[in-house]
Amino acid sequence: MAASTLSPVTPSQLCSSKNGMFSPCQALMVKSTRTHHQLGAGKERSMKVTCQATSIPADRVPDMGKRETMNLLLLGAISLPTGFMLVPYATFFAPPGSGGEGGGIVAKDALGNDVIADEWLKTHGPGDRTLTQGLKGDPTYLVVENDRTLATYGINAVCTHLGCVVPFNSAENKFICPCHGSQYNNQGRVVRGPAPLSLALAHADIDDGKVLFVPWVETDFRTGEDPWWA
Ligand code: FES
Repeated sequence: MAASTLSPVTPSQLCSSKNGMFSPCQALMVKSTRTHHQLGAGKERSMKVTCQATSIPADRVPDMGKRETMNLLLLGAISLPTGFMLVPYATFFAPPGSGGEGGGIVAKDALGNDVIADEWLKTHGPGDRTLTQGLKGDPTYLVVENDRTLATYGINAVCTHLGCVVPFNSAENKFICPCHGSQYNNQGRVVRGPAPLSLALAHADIDDGKVLFVPWVETDFRTGEDPWWA
């Protein structure tokens, strides 16, 4: 009497698909059965493995068109909210806009409020030069003329030497830089160095009652030269 045992076989070795779509081979049952074969005088033990492969019906398989549609929908669902988040993030890094026609911007007072011309003249007398926020956020003097009107120009307070903000000295009637002593007359024209150039100008217009600074690109009326800042 001779008994032999077959070596274990994995289900995947025994299951195969010929064509069509089959789910992974599922060895639902591995059962060993004992069959008795009469081989001569002995019995042989064998193992029987049953595999079942399930196929997916053709009408259940999404076609390529449906897949692409689903991909587009997914892309839209992700990109739309992302885009809404990116817009304010990107505008944070963009420089402030000019805020007015022709690149003009409404002057702001020390509190950040729009400068109303009539209100300004009630509290600022002849010869007054007071800082406001001008083009590109630069400190810019509003000038009140002796006839109690606003001058049609503003004076950029940034020193042309190394960039200090130049205060107006009313006793001297000139701008005197505290950093290295440069001096400018009451219109901002340089009269003593080391500053090499006069203070920049901007137009000070009145638009709908508000003071509007507009870039000055014409000849510098103080020197008769082209504006160095334009
Ligand atoms: Fe004004 Fe030097 S920064 S004189």
